[in-house]
Amino acid sequence: MVKIRLTRLLEHCAKQQFTSKSVIQRRPFTSTQFPELSQFGDNISSHHDLHKYSITEPEKFWSILARSRLDWSQDFDVGMSCDMSAGQFSWFQGGKLNVSVNCVDRWAALDPERIALVWEKDEPGDTVKVTYAQLKTMVAKIANLLKQAGVEKGDVVGLYLPVSPIAVATMLATARIGAVHSVIFAGFSSDALATRLNDAKAKVVVTADEAVRGGKRIPLKKTVDTALENVDSVKNVFVMRRTGTDVNMVANRDTWLDDGLSGCTDDCAAVPVDSEDPLFLLYTSGSTGKPKGVSHSSAGYLLYAMVTMKHAFDYNQGELFGCVADIGWITGHSYVVYGPLGNGGTSLLFESTPTYPDPGRYWETVERLKINHFYGAPTALRLLIRYGDDYVTKYDRSSLRKLGSVGEPINIEAWQWFHDVIGEKRCDVVDTWWQTETGGIAISPRPSAPGAPLAPGKPQRPMFGMDPVLLDDKGKIVEGNKVDGALCLATPWPGIARTLFGDHDRFVNTYFSVYPGYYFTGDGAHRDENGDYQITGRMDDVINVTGHRLGTAEVEEVLTEHPLVAEAAVVGFPHPVKGEGVYAYVILKEMSEQVSEEKLREELRKIVKTKISGFAIPEHILFTPGLPKTRSGKIMRRILRKIAADKSDELGDISTLAEPDVVQIIINKHLHK
Ligand code: WT7
Repeated sequence: MVKIRLTRLLEHCAKQQFTSKSVIQRRPFTSTQFPELSQFGDNISSHHDLHKYSITEPEKFWSILARSRLDWSQDFDVGMSCDMSAGQFSWFQGGKLNVSVNCVDRWAALDPERIALVWEKDEPGDTVKVTYAQLKTMVAKIANLLKQAGVEKGDVVGLYLPVSPIAVATMLATARIGAVHSVIFAGFSSDALATRLNDAKAKVVVTADEAVRGGKRIPLKKTVDTALENVDSVKNVFVMRRTGTDVNMVANRDTWLDDGLSGCTDDCAAVPVDSEDPLFLLYTSGSTGKPKGVSHSSAGYLLYAMVTMKHAFDYNQGELFGCVADIGWITGHSYVVYGPLGNGGTSLLFESTPTYPDPGRYWETVERLKINHFYGAPTALRLLIRYGDDYVTKYDRSSLRKLGSVGEPINIEAWQWFHDVIGEKRCDVVDTWWQTETGGIAISPRPSAPGAPLAPGKPQRPMFGMDPVLLDDKGKIVEGNKVDGALCLATPWPGIARTLFGDHDRFVNTYFSVYPGYYFTGDGAHRDENGDYQITGRMDDVINVTGHRLGTAEVEEVLTEHPLVAEAAVVGFPHPVKGEGVYAYVILKEMSEQVSEEKLREELRKIVKTKISGFAIPEHILFTPGLPKTRSGKIMRRILRKIAADKSDELGDISTLAEPDVVQIIINKHLHK
């Protein structure tokens, strides 16, 4: 009987969209998944109903979850008070809580020996497990050390650290005392680090002697030293020993972390903070050269990270959640740290790379550690596909239950490989669309929704609380299916960023003024014949290189710092592995004719590496006598994008350009590059 029903279900799905054996694994929508179910009223019997409720009654929906899933020191009075056009959001006003208590203490009290973190170091098999009780001790000691260093509520602590239990404990330690962390990806250069520390006015930096990635050592402390030559606000630096190498220690500023911690007790009272007090800043790229310090709240952010992790991945305590992102990005914040720990789960900290010591690393780690949920980036999958299936199939992946993709559109080939080869057609693939600013997953299929079909290459369905709309260039809502538009979100949700640090005007202008009354994501999207969403790409001058967000203006600014460069225009172009590559068009000053082009290219690549990071280095640098500009002097990047994508036959009418002839020159140079 059961067998027949399952077969019918499978046939039904095959007809609808896509056959997935994983349909069998989907559990029905129950009160175990949603313990709050009875509080939503009598009419809710499916994910569809619950989603509808969440966007028609957002205040009720999120207040119920906030009370049932978070531990409060003081209950809140007002669930939600938001004004989209002013970029003002307040959730759970009047409530007080502490994020480290919610992520650590409550689980340590319940089950002290439960594993919170599994640190898979760069060398395969070099693994460290940290229980909730141990994590609680680490957090308290680091919090006491930060207090000794004068860190107070609201102060910013900069982290420049490898993925490690110390990094996680430091994030939670700042939360414990009501301070704010700003994690800076340890692949950023000293200049990029200094810019971010200065903007955040960080008081303390926590770093390591060196990082280790793919068998190579990266001198973090040295980079911090160089950065701090241009930063006045930082008074103390704590240095974690990762490799034990000798590093320069500046008197009265630098302390070895373990020396500092040896003088600290493991008891540190948690400071209850207001729901809306900031938990962290995270810098990300925008369409100008200046990175934005995206500021997230305490209660709303934590709740949103927890709820989205649980329901996008159908996560249960006791499972090992393997998000391989770096903690320097929002994915690391929400799905390595706050989502998993807020849910009392067990989280993987992956220090290595997909290809070290060989391209089987992810799957060897899956087998050895019995990872249940694997969450990674399409760019890594595209890279690994090239090495063939043997690196996958020689390892046992039967522990895997759900597979997640994040950071950029996943092409059908990569999706199919993820689903068929990695997941043996057994595991749902969830393509999760979201942004640093949304705090957590915004559009993604929820695998626990019974019978809901999966469509390769599409994040498909809005998460709870998410009400996506497509708008045309006149700002009107595009109705119906099989349509395109600017992707906006119409209903406020608790995880939305609260401001850009020190620049609320930029926050309002970037996200809330383009389409008044809506949050504008910066992405374009297509709604297909089934009502599923597919992301078509950024609509602004932001590109996505190996899953890293990069403003083309940032690269342009750095290139023009070279004394021989007069002007630069940077665009993205489709790249088979990286998603997008960086393509730079550069106009040189006249005097530069004596210098070889190759030498100049080398110098320009180096500048980008030292001023930003390795991932931002242009793949192509094309020297040109001019750029396509409108008569008012605006560079027509649309034309440059087409040429870079080998689509110069699709340029359309260029007769309105100030100097149309320059286009043919650029095309010829591109073809002969
Ligand atoms: C931008 C946000 C999401 C956390 C990591 C990146 C692109 C992200 C997807 C996806 C298509 C995606 C968008 C978005 N993006 N996920 N599943 N499908 N595009 O966060 O650095 O803030 O970048 O990444 O363009 O706007 P981020």
